[in-house]
Amino acid sequence: MSKQPIGIFDSGVGGTSIWKEINLLLPNENTIYLADSANAPYGLKTKETIINLSIKNVEHLINQGCKIIVVACNTATTNAIHVLRESYNIPIIGIEPAIKPAALNTQTKAIGILATKGTLSSELFHKTTNLFANNTNIIERIGEGIVELIESGQLHTEAMKDLLKIYLQPMIDANIDYLVLGCTHYPYLMPLLVELLPNNVKIIDSGEAVARQTKVILEKHHLLNTQIAKGNYQFFTNGKTEVLASLLDNKFEVEYLNF
Ligand code: SIN
Repeated sequence: MSKQPIGIFDSGVGGTSIWKEINLLLPNENTIYLADSANAPYGLKTKETIINLSIKNVEHLINQGCKIIVVACNTATTNAIHVLRESYNIPIIGIEPAIKPAALNTQTKAIGILATKGTLSSELFHKTTNLFANNTNIIERIGEGIVELIESGQLHTEAMKDLLKIYLQPMIDANIDYLVLGCTHYPYLMPLLVELLPNNVKIIDSGEAVARQTKVILEKHHLLNTQIAKGNYQFFTNGKTEVLASLLDNKFEVEYLNF
């Protein structure tokens, strides 16, 4: 049993989609969420920069006493998770695009993957696609500009819709029946994605799987918080507090922190 918080970080506000899944499964856990919005997006940065930013975030969370770190960012996971796991001796959970379930279940043998440049060009991404989706037509698109719009609070706008139309059309033309969301910001686009995609296309992300994995690892290390009361949830950003707060439906206090 441990009352120490779960530390969660992302390049910005998108990782709250992961925080919500963790909170749903483990509401009595204390959590600290760190949005590195001042440095978003990570997706266009070099591997070295992504590693250095990830280290900065993890050090901050460890200094706050976190018992486990959830890297709620696909780009940071695919580029930095190995270094983080080698550098720190607390459990570190990462996020990978849900390619395996999509490749196993596709009927049309065509799946779409929307992710950042940093994720799509990573070694981990290529390994996963080669392992699970060798016989599948994969239509990958870099979601250029999407994270920037979300970080500036422009979620359900015409500008976002226009961008998505460009990225989704080749996938629709290829008759995909699964769209894999490879960035933790993208689950917030769900209403627009549903509107723009044919009805038969299933949209999957990794949020639930990451929450389940977090629980499994906490159990394994005897670190679950077994208190009955709800946890204490803290949110920090070095960007705009109002954007982070709005994605949390303004239910929680968000603090500005220059980390
Ligand atoms: C980004 O910062 O570019 C996106 C974060 C992610 O890959 O989840």
